[in-house]
Amino acid sequence: MIQFCESAPCHVVGGREVWKTLREELKLEANETSPDGKWTLATTSCLGLCSVGPVIIIDDDVYGNLTPDQIPGILARYS
Ligand code: FES
Repeated sequence: MIQFCESAPCHVVGGREVWKTLREELKLEANETSPDGKWTLATTSCLGLCSVGPVIIIDDDVYGNLTPDQIPGILARYS
């Protein structure tokens, strides 16, 4: 389960590009689950971590200060 913060503070610091990359890497749109059930891509409002935005949470792991090029490596940790 991936939760992507879509609130404005994360959005303005690069969240839009991170979101685009997540969708491309997973071939999912918001609130979709992959056919094998492995990934669910959810959006959420502010997680209270705006100071380290953009932020995603995968299961219980928090990733902040994200850039799009970090996404493939982070996803690979769960495969
Ligand atoms: S706006 Fe993303 S954590 Fe607050």
